[in-house]
Amino acid sequence: MMSSDKELNSPRERTATIISKIHAASDVVELIMEINEGREAAMLGSRFSSPLPGQFAHIAVPGSFLRRPLSVAGFDDESGRLRIIVRRAGKGSSALASLPVGSSLNLLFPLGNPFPMELIESFGKVWIVAGGIGLAPLLFAARRASQRRLAVRSFVGFRDDTHVFGVEELEEYGPVSLVVGGVVTERLSEVMDREAPGLIFACGPAPMLGALRLVCAPRGVRAFVSLEERMGCGVGACLVCNCGIKSPDGFAYKRVCADGPVFDISEVGFE
Ligand SMILES: Cc1cc2nc3c(=O)[nH]c(=O)nc-3n(C[C@H](O)[C@H](O)[C@H](O)COP(=O)(O)OP(=O)(O)OC[C@H]3O[C@@H](n4cnc5c(N)ncnc54)[C@H](O)[C@@H]3O)c2cc1C
Ligand code: FES
Repeated sequence: MMSSDKELNSPRERTATIISKIHAASDVVELIMEINEGREAAMLGSRFSSPLPGQFAHIAVPGSFLRRPLSVAGFDDESGRLRIIVRRAGKGSSALASLPVGSSLNLLFPLGNPFPMELIESFGKVWIVAGGIGLAPLLFAARRASQRRLAVRSFVGFRDDTHVFGVEELEEYGPVSLVVGGVVTERLSEVMDREAPGLIFACGPAPMLGALRLVCAPRGVRAFVSLEERMGCGVGACLVCNCGIKSPDGFAYKRVCADGPVFDISEVGFE
């Protein structure tokens, strides 16, 4: 029996088939997966409602006991096709990136709290700040903002030329400042000195996010960051992914999987 739309939206275990695989950059592979229920919904004229930018899939990887969290880098509402961009960081991500087209995967999806897309309108524009593979969830955010005719400007940094990906796509949505081998937040800071910033969405290595906070805080610029932590369950039960958050009482632990991965930058410590 066909599941209801409400069931299709809820985070739960699903199966997916890899239908395309592209080498995007050194050590980076883009996978398009068909979520099997999404295809079923499309065939019946129903809709598999979108995951939102900032949400992730917790993917069972062959040969590993634990699932690996990967951001939604895109999603096609009509077909239920999910885009994931994987960097070979270690055993699990390398195994995933090595799977051939036609492979079946098991995933928990969609998980986590998204970027606050609804806030962009009150700022008039969104600024994307990304470092390396942190661009993956932000490609989805930029696309969705652009589809809503919101202005998008991007600042993106990569270690070297061989690691660059996604820039031509970002240029479809608005101006892009590309920094290769330098510090992307320095470029951001220069532009902020002459242009009123938009709402910032960011993802990247912790030192980049720490530098971003130092750029934003004195200027009172609002920013939301997607954090990366090792995960166990992915659904808030095991506390493996705890991170320190500022609270009215001083300091509290929150779970990146269930309370995040997106947080207001003013709450987060990057030390
Ligand atoms: C919400 C979320 C979204 C993510 N989205 C993406 C994505 O779109 N694309 C992508 O390539 N990666 C993404 N990551 C990171 C990805 O989950 C890790 O690179 C992967 O789980 C590492 O597993 P591994 O077995 O390959 O590496 P391991 O052998 O376990 O570790 C290799 C290296 O990666 C570090 N690492 C391990 N787990 C994580 C983790 N969860 N986050 C950050 N660093 C880690 C380790 O400290 C070590 O330095 C995301 C992480 C989170 C939490
Ligand atoms: S991974 Fe288990 S609580 Fe977050």
